Amino acid sequence: MINKTLASLYMFLIFFLLSTTAQKFTYDDFKTPEYCGSSCHTDFYQQWKQAMMSQAYTHHWDEIEYFQLAIPHAEKDEKVAEVKEGCNGCHAPISYVVGDVPPPKPEMNSRANESVSCEVCHSITGYEGDTPHNFNYIMNPGKTKYSSRKGDIQSPAHDIVVTDLHHSGDFCGICHNEMSPFGVWVKSTHLEWKEGPYSKEGVQCQDCHMPKAKFKPASMGSTYEDTRLHLFHGAHDNGKIKGTIELRIHPDIREAEPGETVKFNLALFNQKTGHKFPTGSVEDRMVWLNVEAVDAAGNKYHLSVDKKGFEGEEYTISADVLAYQDMGIALDIPDFEGVQRDGIPAGNRIFRMPYFDPQGRMTIQQWNTSSQGVDYRIGPRETKTETFTFNLPDELPAGKMVVTASLYYQKLMTPVAEFLNVPEDEAEAVLVNTHSTEIEILD
Ligand code: HEC
Ligand code: HEC
Ligand code: HEC
Ligand code: HEC
Repeated sequence: MINKTLASLYMFLIFFLLSTTAQKFTYDDFKTPEYCGSSCHTDFYQQWKQAMMSQAYTHHWDEIEYFQLAIPHAEKDEKVAEVKEGCNGCHAPISYVVGDVPPPKPEMNSRANESVSCEVCHSITGYEGDTPHNFNYIMNPGKTKYSSRKGDIQSPAHDIVVTDLHHSGDFCGICHNEMSPFGVWVKSTHLEWKEGPYSKEGVQCQDCHMPKAKFKPASMGSTYEDTRLHLFHGAHDNGKIKGTIELRIHPDIREAEPGETVKFNLALFNQKTGHKFPTGSVEDRMVWLNVEAVDAAGNKYHLSVDKKGFEGEEYTISADVLAYQDMGIALDIPDFEGVQRDGIPAGNRIFRMPYFDPQGRMTIQQWNTSSQGVDYRIGPRETKTETFTFNLPDELPAGKMVVTASLYYQKLMTPVAEFLNVPEDEAEAVLVNTHSTEIEILD
């Protein structure tokens, strides 16, 4: 009898050990962000709470894309099967490393909702291989926090080990570079920064997204002159987007008669981003130029951009065409005809890079991307020029004609947002910059 009990106890122990060693970590190895933020790092916690980092798993569009497109697609197509778990490597890293994937939906309030928490970033000791990408982090959760400053007061809650990695943009690349199952770089913010001017001058991602200020990192600790604020402000902060590009427009002649042709020249200078604009979720993002003339009587005319003639240019000029047909796979719509591609007036210049599915159709599903088209985005400190030729109508009234160029940024194209019922704020057109010029229309 005793032997039997002992034997089953052993069996239980073996099973227990097997089931826990199968996954490297458990949720108990990680503190919650509320633990870090309730009495010590109160300000960092509030900053993080307002950034997308704290919503990487719960944000509406992330939830829709993961549960309605990615999971069903992964279950139907062996080639992309890995994303069923893999999305969480960056969006819910703790759930990923403890093996709780797919995690419960956000409404279940599980620990996946912690998203990219304090413990995620401060447990990272390095990354595997040469290039940071696809959540190749090495994690060591526990009493030791990996960070950038030892501090002159010993933390009562934990030990601190200072790493070079936390000071470097390479740290961010672990999640801000992504390669699709087809071997295509579908997110390359870190690689763009690496080959651009800022990394060469030693300007890190942290310098623009975690700016330094005189501040207390912990409520009972010291104030430092160069404390790293945890703002992580990006595409969801309209203030960060505004003014990214400086815009100037001028005509080739200042006086013209109705029926004549006037050519408007535009310069677009990227003075603000450390990577290309747009970057990150490039499959979703649109930056476009709208040029409009208003004559002396108040009539409006929409101008179309002049074609430059480069390969793949048709994807950079708005047009009435359908795209994104591969959403039909996950949504079970056979022969899905797609939705409108751009959702803006035809003839506008779009600064983007199109992503293509294996059938060569434009896709917003970065995991289903097997090739990319022309990269017509605006690089860091790059200036692009565009021309708009306007054949003045014969009946144009005499007097001043004002021509205004406006540059807009959109996180998700309107037709896709409407089709998938993504709340409107994700498809908001944010005005990046605007500039006007005038010409005199003669009698
Ligand atoms: C463990 C993965 C991970 C690491 C490491 C990481 N990020 Fe992120 N980051 C994310 C995810 C996931 C999102 C997207 C949140 C969302 O919108 O779903 C994000 C969002 C952002 C945003 C907000 C973008 C927006 O749309 O508003 C900024 C800015 C940002 N990260 C900067 C950084 C910087 C700078 C670093 C390095 C110091 C860094 N990140 C390191 C995963 C990470
Ligand atoms: C996306 C990754 C990321 C997240 C999430 C994150 N941190 Fe950090 N944290 C960093 C990096 C990177 C640095 C160092 C930046 C540098 O010095 O270049 C840092 C620095 C710090 C420092 C030292 C600041 C200083 O200047 O002395 C503290 C303290 C800290 N983090 C606490 C927190 C807390 C608390 C949270 C959660 C509310 C948090 N971090 C969330 C990446 C992150
Ligand atoms: C010189 C300043 C600067 C540097 C350096 C910089 N950024 Fe940015 N970043 C910006 C600005 C400005 C924006 C807002 C415009 C935009 O969306 O590109 C931005 C936007 C972003 C976004 C949101 C993009 C989108 O469209 O969703 C992410 C994510 C991001 N940065 C991450 C990073 C990472 C990671 C690095 C380092 C590899 C980095 N940034 C380096 C200035 C910078
Ligand atoms: C290598 C890390 C990584 C992986 C893997 C990853 N993401 Fe992301 N994801 C990010 C980062 C970083 C951002 C923020 C980029 C930006 O701001 O443009 C992001 C942004 C997004 C956004 C846009 C959020 C917004 O509000 O605009 C959605 C939706 C999204 N991811 C869904 C997914 C899905 C679904 C998967 C799996 C098929 C996935 N991601 C896999 C890192 C990753």
